Order: sequence, then C-alpha cells, then structure tokens
Amino acid sequence: MNYFDMQLNTLFEKIISKPELHARLLNTLSLMENTGARKISASEHSTNVTLIILKHAAEEHRHAYYLKKQIAKIDETLCPTYSYEYLLAPASSRLYLNKLDTEVSRYLKTTLGLSGNELKFAAYLLVTYAIEVRADELYPIYQQALDSAKNKVNVKSIILEEEGHLEEMLKQLKEFSTDWETHAGRALEIESRLFDAWAQALSKEVIG
Ligand SMILES: [Fe+2]
Ligand SMILES: [Fe+2]
Repeated sequence: MNYFDMQLNTLFEKIISKPELHARLLNTLSLMENTGARKISASEHSTNVTLIILKHAAEEHRHAYYLKKQIAKIDETLCPTYSYEYLLAPASSRLYLNKLDTEVSRYLKTTLGLSGNELKFAAYLLVTYAIEVRADELYPIYQQALDSAKNKVNVKSIILEEEGHLEEMLKQLKEFSTDWETHAGRALEIESRLFDAWAQALSKEVIG
C-alpha cells in the first residue's frame, strides 16, 4: 500500500466505526455511481449503441442501487435520499464527476478538435476509463477496511464488475485511437487532481 492508500484506509476505518457516517458514505458512493450511470446513458448515440455500453450503464445503475440497499444493514431509516444532509462532502461529491467530464471534454475539443457525437463518445471513453481505474483502487481498500472491522456491509460484487469494466474500457479505447495512451494518461491526471480534492474534503469532514 502506498501512502495515499494508507490514508484512505484510515479514513474508511474511521467512517466505518461510526454507523451514521458509514451510512452517509454508502449513500455518497451510491450518488456517485448513479451520476456515472446517468452520464453513460446521456452520452449514448441515438442508434449506435453496443452491448458493452448497455451492460455498463445497467451495472453502474445496479451499483447505485446496491450501495443504497447496504444502508439497511446499518439502519434502514438512515439516508433516505441524496439530500445534502445525508451525504459526506456533498459539494465535492457532486462536483467530482461533473468537473471530470467538463475538463476531459475541453481537452478533447482543444487537442483533437472533436465535436458533436464524436466528442460525446470520446468523453465517455476517457471519463469512464479514469473512473474505472479509480474504482479498482478504491473499492478494494474499502472492502479491506470492512473486513478488518468485521462489518456486514460488503462491496465484493461491485469490485468484480468494476474489473470487467476496466477491461472493456481498454478494449474500446484501443479501437478508438492508436494514440489512446496519451489521451488516457491525460484523463488520469485530471481525475487524480479531482479525486485528491474529494478525499481531502471527506477527511476534513470526518477527521476535521
Ligand atoms: Fe460502478
Ligand atoms: Fe464501472
């Protein structure tokens, strides 16, 4: 584990030890999955929709639902909606994906001159790729913290599906451009900066 992973691990352990905060974390992750799912659906072409895209949108919607359902293992009356009072670092959590989308789209417009459907599809590829890389790191750290606290909540089925998504995104990226690594690298840089800001906001709220 690197330093940043250790900090995340400590943060998750703190959150898990307080049921009310833990419910809000699950609700926040659910909101972020839901935002991702809605973005995938919104970027769909009117006719050119593949099985991979449909599978991906369906699974991200399932993650949002599954995480929200896990709240009942803590207390089913907690966090009924995505209202700010039921989230952790609400402003940052809402901004993370929208900013990622805006900044990646701006990069694609200026460096590749894309617009319209092409821009939508390329942004879907890069934004989703960056999120999948993050998900493959974040959920295992969360699961590890859950295991060591012997908590009933579990995200193993999400981890499995996110691994599949990363492979699918890589396959689509390779078909999209021979120079995909440059663009993907840029998307990862943008995402890292936004994720750090999110993690900071979370730790400020939880630890102070
Ligand atoms: Fe997901
Ligand atoms: Fe995913």
